[in-house]
Amino acid sequence: SDHPLLYRDRPVVVGAGLAGLMTALCLAPEPVVLLSRAPLGAETSTAWAQGGLAASLAADDTPAMHLADTVEAGAGLVEAEAARRIVTAAPEAVRRLAALGVRFDEADGAFLLGLEAAHGRRRIVHADGDATGREIVRALAAAVRATPSITVLEGVEARRLIVEDGAIAGIVCVGPKGETMTIPTARVVLATGGIGGLFCDSTNPRASQGQGLALAARAGAMLSNLEFVQFHPTALDTAARPMGLVSEAVRGEGAVLVDETGERFLRHLPGAELAPRDEVARGIWRHLAEGHRVYLDARQQPGAGFARRFPGIDRLCREAGFDPTSQPLPVRPAQHYHMGGIAVDGQGRSSVPGLWACGEVACTGLHGANRLASNSLAEAAVCAAWVAESVGSAPGTSSRFGRAAIAVPAADLRAGDPAPTRQILSRALGVIRVRAGLEAAIAELLPLAAGTRPASNPALVGLMLAVSALARQESRGAHWRADFPSSLPMAAPSFLSLGQALALA
Ligand code: SIN
Repeated sequence: SDHPLLYRDRPVVVGAGLAGLMTALCLAPEPVVLLSRAPLGAETSTAWAQGGLAASLAADDTPAMHLADTVEAGAGLVEAEAARRIVTAAPEAVRRLAALGVRFDEADGAFLLGLEAAHGRRRIVHADGDATGREIVRALAAAVRATPSITVLEGVEARRLIVEDGAIAGIVCVGPKGETMTIPTARVVLATGGIGGLFCDSTNPRASQGQGLALAARAGAMLSNLEFVQFHPTALDTAARPMGLVSEAVRGEGAVLVDETGERFLRHLPGAELAPRDEVARGIWRHLAEGHRVYLDARQQPGAGFARRFPGIDRLCREAGFDPTSQPLPVRPAQHYHMGGIAVDGQGRSSVPGLWACGEVACTGLHGANRLASNSLAEAAVCAAWVAESVGSAPGTSSRFGRAAIAVPAADLRAGDPAPTRQILSRALGVIRVRAGLEAAIAELLPLAAGTRPASNPALVGLMLAVSALARQESRGAHWRADFPSSLPMAAPSFLSLGQALALA
């Protein structure tokens, strides 16, 4: 294959979910290198997305209404201007995806629109009923393969960003045979997804371990709102890991949450089962902690239509031994999404010149303290275009190091074992947090993250999350502190660099 130095000065996009694929496509015809750790499209969270992509497409809907719902769910931390831009661009992004070959579900020439929690209107476009992400990845991966300006490097994992004089100068990767490759470039886009692989109970691919957060932090980037981790209320409660997801759209079609006595224990919440996701997840968590069992009852609604509307979830349930039309489905909350991430501006630029971020790994301000369902695919599709515009117009020739690939000790390029971090975060950074648990987590993570060589990237990410969660002495959105159960009067985002995290730990 080509020598990595052939790619010199090309922008490098790390990650091949919706954010990465779309960024590469939007950069065309500018040559770009797309790094995919797995075969293209495999192992990305996008491919597992069920519900869909939120956009105000209905006749009775507007971007302003979408914005209002987003702001409301975000518990004071949505950055209104960033969110306004993103939701306003979402309908156009849907049309752009369709033009790229994504076959969304339609009837009579109009997109079919689903409903999810805390959305005041039907505004979720979907594909194959509940396999929206799979269809998006299928179509975009095909489009990428058909675009000659995109060089896809499969089986290649980014391990280190090279920074010279405070700006990106290159990226060190490890190839399929363990070989090290260095690409000199002044432009890197991180689109590496989330952190679910750092939690025992998650709906994400195990491989999502916050790699982009570690890369960015080690390069000196500012991260934001790391304490806000979203738990999906209704993962199917079986022994399977990662856990199977029962989409919120099932509740959108009328399914209700009951306990072992048949009691609809969340009916007092404003919005009941369709209250914001953090409230529903906490309600279930508490009910489970009191010794109850919790079920999603879809027998009445969607009832007999279940398999037609949700073929993938129907299969998931049946493979686990449950018939959604005749049995309540056992469910429990599971880690699902990370609202926090690399702090970026409206063009996706991080605080390090030459480093952009897009998708779940970025913190644009859209989600605040609690993401509204299906806003993440919308955000990735919209922001990829803006990132590409910014990358395409940025000076791309400032990488100064020459043919001699810089030497990085092999030990420094190891990612580290996620298992200890998974145990620690699952214990201390679940749906409900408390000082003593967070302090214990930091004490355990610190030596794993910083004290030894090679330092563990999963532990480093875990440490930054725990430090952020300890510092936020209030309950807000997805961050619930048992020792600080109310919200402070003023909502403020948090910011953290690696240096600050180590100093605070
Ligand atoms: C779901 O289908 O419930 C997940 C939607 C989302 O997390 O955005």
